[in-house]
Amino acid sequence: MSCKFPSCLKRSFSLYLVWVAALVTVSPLHTAEELPPPRTHYLGRKIAQTMSYHGAPWLIRPERQQEENCTLMLKHLGIQSGVKVCDMGCGNGFYSLRLAKLVGQEGQVWAVDIQPEMLTLLRARAAKAEIDNIHPVLGTVADPQLPPGSIDVILCVDVYHEFSHPGRMLRAMRESLAPNGVVVLVEYREEDPEVPIKPLHKMSKKQVSKELEHNGFQLVREYDGLPWQHMMFFGVKADIEQR
Ligand SMILES: C[S@@+](CC[C@H](N)C(=O)[O-])C[C@H]1O[C@@H](n2cnc3c(N)ncnc32)[C@H](O)[C@@H]1O
Repeated sequence: MSCKFPSCLKRSFSLYLVWVAALVTVSPLHTAEELPPPRTHYLGRKIAQTMSYHGAPWLIRPERQQEENCTLMLKHLGIQSGVKVCDMGCGNGFYSLRLAKLVGQEGQVWAVDIQPEMLTLLRARAAKAEIDNIHPVLGTVADPQLPPGSIDVILCVDVYHEFSHPGRMLRAMRESLAPNGVVVLVEYREEDPEVPIKPLHKMSKKQVSKELEHNGFQLVREYDGLPWQHMMFFGVKADIEQR
């Protein structure tokens, strides 16, 4: 070989540095390190703990229809056949299965949760009901792993108040919406002491609006006729859509 040993070594070392830099830039480890620690509070609100999959039977309790009037909620959601819907924080799929029937074979349901056990329960329930238009997705605490620019409605029932990274989740949800898509938050009413739910698992309308507006959304519609919950529809703010 004609090269002198020291310059050869220098070149190898530079190549090694380039390789390490490339690895650090693309490695998932690096991405994971960038995730900020879970928040305990967000814009003046204390964040609730994630409901464990051990509590999943509560989500499909027979009294739920009477307590929350789920059919009325779905009526006001106004899902048309053929649309793309996401059941965010789907749990064991109480709403995913109903949404799958509403969107029909031409539509699709993305059912996202961060607990694989919830998705296992959902798969079993969907199989039993012979429903095959649900895509179960294992999201992360900061990223629901949805396709960009394609979802018409993201339904969040009793989940937003649990997000440990609300800003990141809202940004990812915003980016996954189709033009004119909406995010719908259904949260237990904090303003109403008669609603028999722990305070940390309730939210006021004022707080919901404050957090969503802070993250590029605007309230486009709301429905106040449910027994226990607010139902608030948010679209993307016009100036954000143009960016
Ligand atoms: C109280 S359960 C509600 C389940 C379902 N929406 C229902 O109404 O039957 C909240 C669910 O949200 C999920 N969750 C919490 N944080 C999440 C996140 N960042 N992304 C997706 N799911 C999340 C939890 O794992 C849990 O299954």
